[in-house]
Amino acid sequence: MTVQKTMLQIAQERYTTKHYSGKTIPREQFDQLLEILRLAPSSVNSQTWKFITVSTPEAKNKIIDAILDFNRERVLKASDVIVFAVPEKITEEHLKKVLDKEIADGRYADLEIVEGLDAGRRHFVGLHSGTVSETLAWETAQAYIALGFILFAAAGMGIDSTALEGVDFEKLDEILGLRQKGLRSVVAVSLGYRAEDDSNARRPKSRLKKEDIFTELK
Ligand SMILES: Cc1cc2nc3c(=O)[nH]c(=O)nc-3n(C[C@H](O)[C@H](O)[C@H](O)COP(=O)(O)O)c2cc1C
Repeated sequence: MTVQKTMLQIAQERYTTKHYSGKTIPREQFDQLLEILRLAPSSVNSQTWKFITVSTPEAKNKIIDAILDFNRERVLKASDVIVFAVPEKITEEHLKKVLDKEIADGRYADLEIVEGLDAGRRHFVGLHSGTVSETLAWETAQAYIALGFILFAAAGMGIDSTALEGVDFEKLDEILGLRQKGLRSVVAVSLGYRAEDDSNARRPKSRLKKEDIFTELK
């Protein structure tokens, strides 16, 4: 019998894995996680993200120099690592690709509205494309939504994870040849199964009190 966890239980029980067992995630489940990333929402459906999967020992060794010391085991002993990257520029070609896909997916019964929707998206993209840093900041915010999606989904599927900011992203870009493609890595995630002695699994969760973070506007 499978016991269905509530969303609240998943949020209460998921935690940042510090030590992995080395066990591999079945590929069918890993593919589901990739599909969940593909389905993550982004502002104006911009989807500028690129996800680089790192699963073999060879691939992990290739990126290891860009991983800060304290995180290295979280890469080497995890089943998979996913690097999140975003482009320095949101190109005309990309905007056209998104629109064409929305049309192909049957989003618009009435093609007359397409022009207006496209103009709306371009307006919003324009608001955030003043400089490369502004573009990257906006796209990184979208990438972090995908990060939250996968952290939660993985936990729901019984897969442990570690969000990884402890990375030398410049070095990682170099190793992965991202700059030549106009891309920057912004965050990563390790996925796998906790080691039996992962002490973090036994630590109680610590969060600020409700009254410290919520205000009701009346
Ligand atoms: C964006 C982000 C980046 C993080 N980077 C790291 C990291 O590089 N290494 C690490 O061990 N934990 C990392 N963490 C884990 C956080 O420290 C952890 O989520 C937080 O302390 C709350 O604990 P919990 O996830 O166990 O509930 C990161 C978390 C987030 C959300």
